Amino acid sequence: MRILSGVQSSGQLHLGNYYGALRQFVAMQNEGEALYFIANLHALNSVRDPVQAKKLTFDTAVAFLALGLDPSRAVLFRQSDIPEVPELYWILGTVVPVSNLERAHSYKDKIDKGQSPDFGLFAYPVLMAVDIMLYDSDVVPVGKDQVQHLEFARDWATKFNVTYVPKYDPADPEGKKGPKGLLKPPRALVQEETALIPGVDGQKMSKTYGNTIELFAEIKATEKKMMGIKTDSTAVESPKPVEGSALYQLLKVMAPASEWAALDASWRQGGQGYGYYKKKLVECFHVTFDGPRKRYEELQADPAEVERILKAGAAKAREYAAPVLARVRTAVGL
Ligand code: ADP
Ligand code: TRP
Repeated sequence: MRILSGVQSSGQLHLGNYYGALRQFVAMQNEGEALYFIANLHALNSVRDPVQAKKLTFDTAVAFLALGLDPSRAVLFRQSDIPEVPELYWILGTVVPVSNLERAHSYKDKIDKGQSPDFGLFAYPVLMAVDIMLYDSDVVPVGKDQVQHLEFARDWATKFNVTYVPKYDPADPEGKKGPKGLLKPPRALVQEETALIPGVDGQKMSKTYGNTIELFAEIKATEKKMMGIKTDSTAVESPKPVEGSALYQLLKVMAPASEWAALDASWRQGGQGYGYYKKKLVECFHVTFDGPRKRYEELQADPAEVERILKAGAAKAREYAAPVLARVRTAVGL
């Protein structure tokens, strides 16, 4: 099984990115042949400062490594190091219906939030489909918000195969009974349990809402953000409401399994104020992230090592990409 996923280098990573995506990626490196990349071509849609673009690409790579990605098990690379990506992007684009792109939720959401409707943003799902199919990926762990993009990728792989492989049967993509497809339709893997992490204001945690708790920011500021999570005015002695409480949701994902039952019971029973639970959350943050934060600092101080890992990753990824692009080029007549 080949597993692939990517993270845009468009900002500092936060708890939503970790629990909604990165944690699962790192865990899956033991379950198959895993490829993870920093989507820095995608990030150009929103990061328009070259110094910042470079720094965020580096920081995202460091974050992956600090959070446990093991380069001897998984391939880690930068999207922009793979010249096969833009080539397949063009070729695949020739069979993509504009009507699909027009109904992409993420595009519509980003426009609604004020991002400018540029071609790159519009065509983003095509680039994402290529990121996946270029390496013959089977499974793509993603957050819920990316599921539609995976459905598009499947549809376009199928359309491409139907167009260029005589007698291709979409019900038999592996070619068990007839001819095999050129592009493999990928499968999304969504982690339902932690599908939505709330931010300090109770809305979905997102850098667009300015309500994030970053994984690798200065610790005092990070603790302050946790102590400032919005809560209601329930009295200390009263049971605390569970529905709609960002603090409760965050504790639920962050507390060690051994402590959660007791915390949950005391929350529902009353007797402790919100400050008590906020301090608990800060403790949980330290337990989970002190190790990765230390590793993050070490890697930040060793850019040559990070570069070496990324270069080696790109070389490996290109080995996977080359035969896929070669068969596509032949099939379309290039
Ligand atoms: P942001 O909303 O901060 O811009 P991104 O869209 O770059 O974050 O998120 C990258 C990935 O991280 C998403 O595809 C999703 O899987 C995950 N993610 C981001 N925010 C959350 C959240 N609040 N809850 C769960 N997963 C999230
Ligand atoms: N679109 C993804 C996000 O915003 C990032 C991404 C780009 C990706 N290409 C991908 C994820 C390929 C999985 C597979 O989170």
